[in-house]
Order: sequence, then C-alpha cells, then structure tokens
Amino acid sequence: MTLPTEQLAGRLEGLREEHRQLIAQGLSLDLTRGKPSSAQLDLSAPLLSLPGEGDYRAADGTDCRNYGVLQGLPELRELWGGLLNVPAAQLISGGNSSLALMHDSVVAALLLGTTDGPRWVDTPGVAFLCPVPGYDRHFGLCEKLGIELIPVPLTEEGPDLDVVKRLVAEDARIKGMWCVPTYSNPTGATYSERTIRELAAMPTAAPDFRLFWDNAYAIHHLTEDEVTIPDVLGLCAEAGNPDRAFLFASTSKITNAGSGVSFFGSSPANVKWLLGHLSKRTIGPDKINELRHMRFLPDAEAVRAHMRRHRDILAPKFELVRQILAEELGGLGIASWTEPAGGYFISLDVPEGTASRVVELAKQAGVALTPAGATYPYGKEERDSNIRIAPSFPPLDELAAATRVLATCVKLAAAERTA
Ligand SMILES: Cc1ncc(COP(=O)(O)O)c(C=O)c1O
Repeated sequence: MTLPTEQLAGRLEGLREEHRQLIAQGLSLDLTRGKPSSAQLDLSAPLLSLPGEGDYRAADGTDCRNYGVLQGLPELRELWGGLLNVPAAQLISGGNSSLALMHDSVVAALLLGTTDGPRWVDTPGVAFLCPVPGYDRHFGLCEKLGIELIPVPLTEEGPDLDVVKRLVAEDARIKGMWCVPTYSNPTGATYSERTIRELAAMPTAAPDFRLFWDNAYAIHHLTEDEVTIPDVLGLCAEAGNPDRAFLFASTSKITNAGSGVSFFGSSPANVKWLLGHLSKRTIGPDKINELRHMRFLPDAEAVRAHMRRHRDILAPKFELVRQILAEELGGLGIASWTEPAGGYFISLDVPEGTASRVVELAKQAGVALTPAGATYPYGKEERDSNIRIAPSFPPLDELAAATRVLATCVKLAAAERTA
C-alpha cells in the first residue's frame, strides 16, 4: 500500500518531534564504514603469528624473505587463480591493495600506452564509463588523473547494455569501463551471463578499450546460494578481444583489510605489460605475507569455510537492516532498497531531491551517512536520491539504532518535501 503523500505531510509535526527526540539522545553512530568489523578480523587472528620463525620457504624452495618473484608465489597464484577463474600463469599477486594495482594500470596506460595502443594521455578528453551507482574510489581515481567520467545506469543484470554498446561504438575517447561484476558496490547486483558475453564481444571505437573488472566481492556470499559468474578472460579471448579485461581482486575483505594480498589477472600479453611496469616500481611483493596467507588458507575449501564464517557474522546485520527498513518504510511508497545476496553494501533510494536532506537530518541526530551523491561520478547525483548503507562495521545494537534514525530521517525529508 502506498501512503498518500498528503498523509505523510500531515505527519510532519510528529516526525519533527521524533527527530528532536533523537537529537536529544546525543547518539554517535556511523553507517559509512564499508569495512570488516573487529569480529571479522578476529577470524584471521592466526595470520599474525604465521608463517612463524624458521618457516620462510615457498613450495619451490624460494626464500620468501629475500627480493624477487615479481609475479608472486606460484602456489598462491594457483590457489587464487582457481577461485577467480584465472590461469595461474596469467595472475599476478601484488601488495596489500587491489586499488593500488588499478591505479598502476591506469597510470601506465595513460603515460606509456597499452599493448595495443598509444598512451591514453594523448587522447583529448579520454573517458571511462562508470555504471551508477558505483564505487566512489574508482571514480575518484579517474577524476584525479584527468579522465572524464561518463555515468551509465546499472541494472540488476549489470550495466545497461544498450547505453554501453552505443557509447563505446561511437566514441573512441572511451578507453575503459569500471565493472564490479559480483555483488556490486553498492547495489549488490551481479552481472548476468548475457551481460558479460556482450561486454566481452561488443565492438568498440577504441581498439585499446579495457574492462576494469574489479571482482572485489567474488566469494563474499551472504546466502547459501553461492553465485559465480562466467570467465570473463575466456569470453574476451573467445570473442577475439583477448586483451580487453583487466581483472582485479584481493583478500582485503577475506583476511586483514589493510594487510591482505591483491591480484591482477589478464591475457598473457597484458600480464607481461604490467610486470614490465611493476619491475620498475618494486623488486618483488611481500612474499612472507603471501606465504602467511598460504599457511592460513592452504586450499579452496579452507577459503570457502573461512568465507562462511564471515557470512555468519555479516548476514544477520544485513537481515537486521532489511527488517527495520521494511518495518519503518515498507508500504509508504517513498523508499526502495536492495537486498543483496553478497558484498558489503545496501543501496537505498529515497524520493528525488531528498537524499542530501536525509544525510543532513541524520547527522543532526548523530548518525553519519555516506554523503549523498558519493556513489556517482564527481560526487553528484542529479536526482539526489541515492544513499549507500554499510552494515558491516557497527555491532548489531548500534546498527539497529542507526537504521531506525535513518528511517525517521527518510520519512521526515519526504514529509518536508510534500508539505
Ligand atoms: C569494489 C571495490 N573494489 C576495491 C576495494 C578496495 O580493495 P583493496 O582493499 O584491495 O584495495 C573496495 C573496498 O571497499 C571495493 O568496494
């Protein structure tokens, strides 16, 4: 049932009073932090004492304490290549941050060119497609480096293919596109097989067009239905575009967010290309950390069991937010939200023109929300309707309190608008 807007406007005074009472409580809560909670980090506590004194040799006898092995330990690449659908020979394991590898790849393409094209910096108005809502750091990285951001709508099956195919076919300035294909940040959408096939095969005006395939949440399931997506590198190769996809991932939300292991997977030519650049930046990755990860999570089953333990902590938090939003906002016809089957975020849509006001009202009541528009290029969403909720970090009681405040603010902002 949709509540007539006049009825909501009629509740304006009551909602204002509710909001005043919330302010009086002096709360200090935070729904912005898309990072693992301490309880999740505790799951990886053994890592802190691994590999342990005297244990420093990789499977082939390499002394991990020393320089070298630029591509990363073979056994680590074998294991994670299996989980990420990338042959070990086509996977690089880097430092602690996949975002850093994305940054390196964009910078190298800009300054030095790709395997199949000249340096991007010489293309006037070089641009990337950005499915929205999306990950603010992807957009910020491009913005910082002078790349124009072109938003495209994200549907439940991935980016709107009609829009994407038209734009890349007609505009050679478009060199890349950000993709979070599994449990996307922030909607939780997972790209369909058809979407992935079409992205791999679509004609592009730029011959050196790249999919920045950030599979950050590849195995971060919130339900027992463990979604997997088709092999993008294989589909690109099959379609005659073997160098199209740069795949990224990391263990940031698997082990320790600040001291995990990151990955880059691509065609043999692209792997050689990136290694060529990395060799000028480092003599090799932190192999002791790689060995530590091998000791802690030695095989795919160990990784899956570990992810189920994360799920046991995370799923009740997502369920709690879902329940409260349904209770407080369900049937009012003023808000909709995603119910992701994995990943780290919930995307909330409120009436057009009220998202910034909701964030402001919540701040007054002591609840920090991600700035409205943060999930859009340049931090601006014309409709001013999207808010990203990050349920992972707060304990359940704080999460419940913060979500109730948020719901009151959504109602109040909507009532103010219709009054
Ligand atoms: C889509 C996405 N990619 C990458 C990252 C960061 O990855 P890393 O810790 O490997 O740099 C995040 C963190 O929130 C993310 O949401």
